[in-house]
Amino acid sequence: MKFRKFLAAGTGAALAFTLAACSGGGAGTTDDSSADATTGGGDAPAVTEGGTIGVAMPTQTSERWIADGDAVKAGLEAAGYDVDLQFANDDIPTQSQQIDNMITSGVSALIIAAIDGTALAQQLQQAADAGIPVISYDRLIRDSENVDFYVTFDNYNVGVQQATSLLVGLGILDADGVTETGETGPFNVELFAGSLDDNNAHFFWAGAIDTLQPFIDAGTIVVPSGQTDIEQAATLRWQQETAQKRMEDLLTSTYTGGDKVQGVLSPYDGLSRGIITALQNAGYSGTTADGFPVVTGQDAEIASVKLIADGVQFSTIFKDTRKLADQAVTVAQAYLAGEEPEANDTETYDNGVKVVPSYLLESDIVYADNIQSLLVDSGYWTAEEVESGQAS
Ligand code: BGC
Repeated sequence: MKFRKFLAAGTGAALAFTLAACSGGGAGTTDDSSADATTGGGDAPAVTEGGTIGVAMPTQTSERWIADGDAVKAGLEAAGYDVDLQFANDDIPTQSQQIDNMITSGVSALIIAAIDGTALAQQLQQAADAGIPVISYDRLIRDSENVDFYVTFDNYNVGVQQATSLLVGLGILDADGVTETGETGPFNVELFAGSLDDNNAHFFWAGAIDTLQPFIDAGTIVVPSGQTDIEQAATLRWQQETAQKRMEDLLTSTYTGGDKVQGVLSPYDGLSRGIITALQNAGYSGTTADGFPVVTGQDAEIASVKLIADGVQFSTIFKDTRKLADQAVTVAQAYLAGEEPEANDTETYDNGVKVVPSYLLESDIVYADNIQSLLVDSGYWTAEEVESGQAS
């Protein structure tokens, strides 16, 4: 995936911005350590060329966050900014420290994809005190009034799409994802959720469970383990090994008398691959066409896209990180020009202190038969990458 090819349309080429030093959202800092506050005091606007924007991403263990980081960096650089891009190895103190350092070094704005959405209130207060606007990236930062804006996907709908693809894979819904086939099962399904400290995990779960519940109530879907609470299904830090271990435990605790798993709701491709490995190690084989369990996913990671092409994983959700990065750049530019960014949702994302104005993007369900149109034709992955299962 060559993100630099996709320099965000709309990031423009403006190299100079007028910073409204005293505006609410704040832009630039008035601190002497600021790299970009170039004019003096009073209420006079400071003028800068570019400036540095801090970008804090959670981890490099998942390729989506590497792609996000690269795309945000490329977009910001094209718009004339320097970028301090940091990954935190999924370690909360590391991310807090990285953000502390960004604030101390006087960044003009912060774009943050939090590891633990509840752990950054102190950093965000410091950012607010320094007049640095904070953009919450993909994951909502909670319990702080100092989140200025949120760019993300329609996370509830991602969960709906995951469950819809599971229902399609089981043959309960037609390929259109809407029409019920009349198939009554019952189908044995196990449920996985993401990390509870990630606000998104709750939205994915809610969208998925709301979609599955009528079929659970009708007895078309059963959950033999009985683990139907998000706390039971959760996967701390979205770790593949944790999901693999839980699937192994479910297989040995529940599927003993010849019962077979037929479907697994998985909210992220890394977890899906752990689940698939556990199933294969327990003797499940072949493709979904041969009866391998229907496993869902999210993020269109290349290893999972190949598994989908091979018929082993059934689906994933494509969230075009290029568009999200583009949106983050647009929002940062608006703040640094002293303007309010445009929101398309001002109701959904209550972070516990306030409803954060948001810009939501749409996602798509990927099946084997639309890999080409969604992922290859759009340039997200090349045909060679899909073939090999590796990013070049
Ligand atoms: C993101 C997903 C991702 C997950 C694990 C969530 O916050 O929205 O796209 O699969 O984190 O990294």
